[in-house]
Amino acid sequence: MEMFQRFALLCLCIFHLAALVCAQDQAGFISLDCGLPKDSSYTETSTKLRYTSDANYIETGLPKSILLQYRRMKQQQVWSLRSFPDGIRNCYRFNLTRNTKYLIRATFMYGNYDEQNNLPEFDVHLGPNLWGTIKIENVSVDYSVEIIHVLSSDYLSVCIVNTNKGTPFISALELRPLDNNTYITQTDSLELSIRLDVGSTSNATFRYIDDAYDRVWWPYDLDEWEPFSTSEAVDADGSKNFKPPPRAMKSAVRPVNASNSLDFSINASDPTSQLYVYMHFAEIEELKANESRLFNITWNGNLWYGPLKLNYLSSTTVFSQSAMSGGQYNFSLIKTGNSTHPPIINAIEIYEVKEFSQSQTDEQDVDAIMNIKSFYGLKKNWQGDPCAPQDYLWEGLNCSYPDDDSPRITSLNLSASELTGGFAHYLTNLTMLTSLDLSNNNLTGPVPKFLSQLSSLKFLNLARNKLTGPLPVELLEKQENNTLELRFDGNPDLCRSASCKKEKKKFVVPLVASVASVFVVLAALIGLWSLKRKKQLPGRKVDANCNRSYESLDLSSRQFTYSEVLRMTNNFERVLGKGGFGTVYHGKLDNDEVAVKMLSPSSSQGYKQFQAEVKLLLRVHHRNLTTLVGYCDEGTNMALIYEYMANGNLEEHLSGLEYLHQGCKPPIVHRDVKSTNILINEKFQAKLADFGLSRVFPVEGGTHVSTTIAGTPGYLDPEYYISNRLTEKSDVYSFGVVLLEIITGHPVISKSAENGHTHVAQWVSSMLDKGDIRSTVDPRLKGDFDINAAWKAVEIAMACVSSTANRRPFMNQVVMELNDCLAMEAAQKKESITTSDSNNSVEMITVNLHTELSPLAR
Ligand SMILES: *[C@@H]1O[C@H](CO)[C@@H](O)[C@H](O)[C@H]1NC(C)=O
Ligand SMILES: *[C@@H]1O[C@H](CO)[C@@H](O)[C@H](O)[C@H]1NC(C)=O
Ligand SMILES: *[C@@H]1O[C@H](CO)[C@@H](O)[C@H](O)[C@H]1NC(C)=O
Ligand SMILES: *[C@@H]1O[C@H](CO)[C@@H](O)[C@H](O)[C@H]1NC(C)=O
Ligand SMILES: *[C@@H]1O[C@H](CO)[C@@H](O)[C@H](O)[C@H]1NC(C)=O
Ligand SMILES: *[C@@H]1O[C@H](CO)[C@@H](O)[C@H](O)[C@H]1NC(C)=O
Ligand SMILES: *[C@@H]1O[C@H](CO)[C@@H](O)[C@H](O)[C@H]1NC(C)=O
Ligand SMILES: *[C@@H]1O[C@H](CO)[C@@H](O)[C@H](O)[C@H]1NC(C)=O
Ligand SMILES: *[C@@H]1O[C@H](CO)[C@@H](O)[C@H](O)[C@H]1NC(C)=O
Ligand SMILES: *[C@@H]1O[C@H](CO)[C@@H](O)[C@H](O)[C@H]1NC(C)=O
Ligand SMILES: *[C@@H]1O[C@H](CO)[C@@H](O)[C@H](O)[C@H]1NC(C)=O
Repeated sequence: MEMFQRFALLCLCIFHLAALVCAQDQAGFISLDCGLPKDSSYTETSTKLRYTSDANYIETGLPKSILLQYRRMKQQQVWSLRSFPDGIRNCYRFNLTRNTKYLIRATFMYGNYDEQNNLPEFDVHLGPNLWGTIKIENVSVDYSVEIIHVLSSDYLSVCIVNTNKGTPFISALELRPLDNNTYITQTDSLELSIRLDVGSTSNATFRYIDDAYDRVWWPYDLDEWEPFSTSEAVDADGSKNFKPPPRAMKSAVRPVNASNSLDFSINASDPTSQLYVYMHFAEIEELKANESRLFNITWNGNLWYGPLKLNYLSSTTVFSQSAMSGGQYNFSLIKTGNSTHPPIINAIEIYEVKEFSQSQTDEQDVDAIMNIKSFYGLKKNWQGDPCAPQDYLWEGLNCSYPDDDSPRITSLNLSASELTGGFAHYLTNLTMLTSLDLSNNNLTGPVPKFLSQLSSLKFLNLARNKLTGPLPVELLEKQENNTLELRFDGNPDLCRSASCKKEKKKFVVPLVASVASVFVVLAALIGLWSLKRKKQLPGRKVDANCNRSYESLDLSSRQFTYSEVLRMTNNFERVLGKGGFGTVYHGKLDNDEVAVKMLSPSSSQGYKQFQAEVKLLLRVHHRNLTTLVGYCDEGTNMALIYEYMANGNLEEHLSGLEYLHQGCKPPIVHRDVKSTNILINEKFQAKLADFGLSRVFPVEGGTHVSTTIAGTPGYLDPEYYISNRLTEKSDVYSFGVVLLEIITGHPVISKSAENGHTHVAQWVSSMLDKGDIRSTVDPRLKGDFDINAAWKAVEIAMACVSSTANRRPFMNQVVMELNDCLAMEAAQKKESITTSDSNNSVEMITVNLHTELSPLAR
């Protein structure tokens, strides 16, 4: 397995390098410009934030634009918006991670987009709870609501709710992950009241890139205060990950009369509201040995914190562990008797506790109903939380609302909803269901036994479908026991008794031929039938035809019959792609998505590779190898069944680079390394696929003489064409090409009118001749990379693609060099941390690197 480890290491470095080179301090940010055309994006010029279309997060609403005259002086994300003339509640849905903390900001700018000059008022909900009411009072003002919220599930919905006061809309929706250890509250969420850059030198609001979390800061000053500032950089790291931005921290205020206290009050609009106050301090004067700045902080005359001593150019944040209440908030910063200098303050944040009392619908119910929705492709306006708030219950559902617990779905009515196909297995996960109405649809196939697992079910309506076969006895028993009201009229091919079993006769005809006694035939028939009944979806039965020997490997459990493959793929309904040796189809195996690669029978070459791939993949398990779920080897029908990779291949991602923002996990390399063979799953982990060419690798650095040329043009070692000799260095070559692709964002082979076909290595080489490294690196990085690191990375890649193998470095050399390169880029990023406080993504990546270096393969 040494080979795999070494390859993995290399990949790892490439991915981390790419992640570092890429301008991606916005890691984890979701910045939606609502109403932007689907899949489009841009970088906003003043913040450098990358905004994308909201179309993948919402199904409803109409894209609109504000009038031109209102665009001036506004950031681009408010130019377009999504308007909701239809439906009471329209929701965005985000797939995130539970227990993570987000700063969520929604922005609304009317800009007379509908030319009605009709300023609307509407509500915004976070999940099932009211977040706020948006009252647009000025056509040219952008209104925002902002909240710090910990996710209670793996998804988040943000809903815009029509309250009959005009058409609701939204301009921008921004999510920023926060450190788990900041802004800790005992319960609930924190709504922003105000965030002040006290004594601001620029007198301007600012946000990202000056603030790592993209918090917005407003300038603030009072007459009794004297602003002052430093030109030195203030380090934000002292503040328990609050990371108050250096830009706010380098300025502060002190009382005009140095012997006075520094006072300020907060006026809470609602006296019952609960507040959290965060005061950020940093000493910005270099005090001499005999000088001191010590002060107490009082709240309504009582000591709140003190005495407080500040550190020079380092931030300290003072806040209370529990919410403050009472409606009166008079704060005084009072210097202690022996302090030579007056109190100061650099920045203040005030949040109000937002109680979210309505719990979300039970998560298993939500998952199940969402899956049912997508299983049947329902076009219903089902958005946001299914049951809550009760006023916006999804059409066709009924729920129970237990005290202090999550709402549960108790009734589902999908009558006349144009359902086709079979029964969604997800129905069994609606465990509290008492009533299920599937009547008046085009459901086909048998009625599954799993419906009887719904123990609370009292009413089941299957009438007027195209169901076939017998009803499960369990359901009939329940009906006879009067525990279930069962309707199934209007299904001509459905029957109560076992008499309809003989319908399946034709299925067993081939078996009959070889059997002598009628009795045995009948027995076989019934046996097969009961087997089929038990295993609705592909089972693990090994067909008699499928008994090729695979030595000591226990392969039987992974073997599938051709008819199972047919069912899995729904008769090869959806093609995912075509490879050299066959077509890949989408399939479903027990609710898991799979990719089914059918080998074309004509390929004799293919059969060996098929065997090699089965052997290798069944023996080698690694999270960066696509998992082989099973295979079928039935005469000329040969199929490989893999886990399904939802996010396509690397090539697609190279034209987006977004995957880098999600953090990449390394792939493993084999001898057909190319960007299309590195697949990305839904968690954006890279996995290497297609082992069609990888025979069992000679581990001890031996060479291998091959009889036919395989591999992919552009990635294939040019020496291999000539000598037919495969060496480790062939992979070094292919990797060099992938590395060049990542660095440049150029396709492997580009076509142009004047030069014909150009290989990426040729192109880079010509750029290097001109000494033009900046234009060699992917322009989407916008120059945000260490130039020396880039040089080095390109040099390594170019060395890898040397035309003769002995001029290529060995893998371990490549790894060492890439590590140097990584360190350079990391150092550059660290430098920028102390000057502009970007964020700690470099730290995170370094940490990952170490954890990832442990032995990878089994
Ligand atoms: C979120 O997850 C659901 C299934 O859980 C899926 O249907 C949906 O497409 C995902 N949305 C996005 C934007 O990835
Ligand atoms: C955040 O902290 C809470 C407890 O304070 C913990 O339950 C949760 O798992 C943490 N989340 C993450 C992502 O670390
Ligand atoms: C709307 O806001 C602008 C500033 O953005 C201001 O100049 C204008 O007077 C306001 N209009 C109304 C009607 O308040
Ligand atoms: C800051 O800006 C506000 C409005 O933009 C203005 O009223 C105020 O005078 C300015 N203060 C300073 C110190 O420039
Ligand atoms: C400063 O305040 C102290 C006490 O409030 C007062 O005695 C003194 O006169 C003030 N000095 C000036 C210059 O206003
Ligand atoms: C706060 O409220 C009090 C009483 O309502 C009022 O006198 C005072 O001016 C207010 N202060 C501010 C800063 O609005
Ligand atoms: C500051 O607080 C300390 C207690 O921590 C107290 O002993 C001291 O008297 C206070 N000083 C002033 C000036 O309020
Ligand atoms: C000033 O007094 C405080 C108590 O009020 C004490 O904790 C601190 O050590 C003293 N500082 C100096 C520099 O004497
Ligand atoms: C039902 O829920 C369980 C637990 O949440 C989950 O493991 C299972 O995959 C679900 N089954 C279906 C068919 O969705
Ligand atoms: C069933 O499908 C047929 C055509 O395939 C269609 O005409 C009919 O309306 C459908 N019935 C229902 C109830 O959806
Ligand atoms: C129906 O009732 C019989 C006897 O009362 C019992 O044995 C059986 O388990 C019941 N079946 C169901 C599905 O409740």
